[in-house]
Amino acid sequence: MALHFAKRITEYRLAKELFSRGKDIILSPEAQVMKTFIQHGETTVFEHCLAVAKYSLLFAHFLERTLKIKVDRDSLVRGALLHDYFLYDWHDKNVPGRRVHGFTHPGVAMRNADRDFGLNDIERDIISKHMFPLTPFLPMHRESYIVTIADKWCALAETFKIDVSSYIIYRVNFNIALADGDYSIDYGETKAEF
Ligand SMILES: [Fe+2]
Ligand SMILES: [Fe+2]
Repeated sequence: MALHFAKRITEYRLAKELFSRGKDIILSPEAQVMKTFIQHGETTVFEHCLAVAKYSLLFAHFLERTLKIKVDRDSLVRGALLHDYFLYDWHDKNVPGRRVHGFTHPGVAMRNADRDFGLNDIERDIISKHMFPLTPFLPMHRESYIVTIADKWCALAETFKIDVSSYIIYRVNFNIALADGDYSIDYGETKAEF
């Protein structure tokens, strides 16, 4: 049998973990403001941040369970949820400074998030460096690199309206099973037992 069900990552388990680690932010009146702004395509900033947090968690599971690399998942989720907490419509180019939004919004988001939620060092690093390499300073924590990658992936997926999350989850489970030595070919109806 492939990876045992109890160890398998599913959309439901990712969503449950995301909510349990980030519920104070997700349910806060301050964060609801992100629902009023569009990020990419038809995706609001709030939905984008949830997606980045979900993919960041998935990536963290991959690193922890295949390469045994520890990740601070509480800081990862909080940083991902707040990485675009800049609280304005970045598409409105008539406002002074909006044309350099790509360079300036990580700093704005970090100051807003620190004011409203209080951040630790890792969360500050995640938010302020998430546009790397557009922003010149190297991320200092592995959690920051995870969010940077998840953010770029989500931006592409939202812009081009592609959803391959179930396939990516399948691939991560496959790699975890391989790392656990837990994988054998599943023939479906006719199970091969070795
Ligand atoms: Fe951003
Ligand atoms: Fe983002």
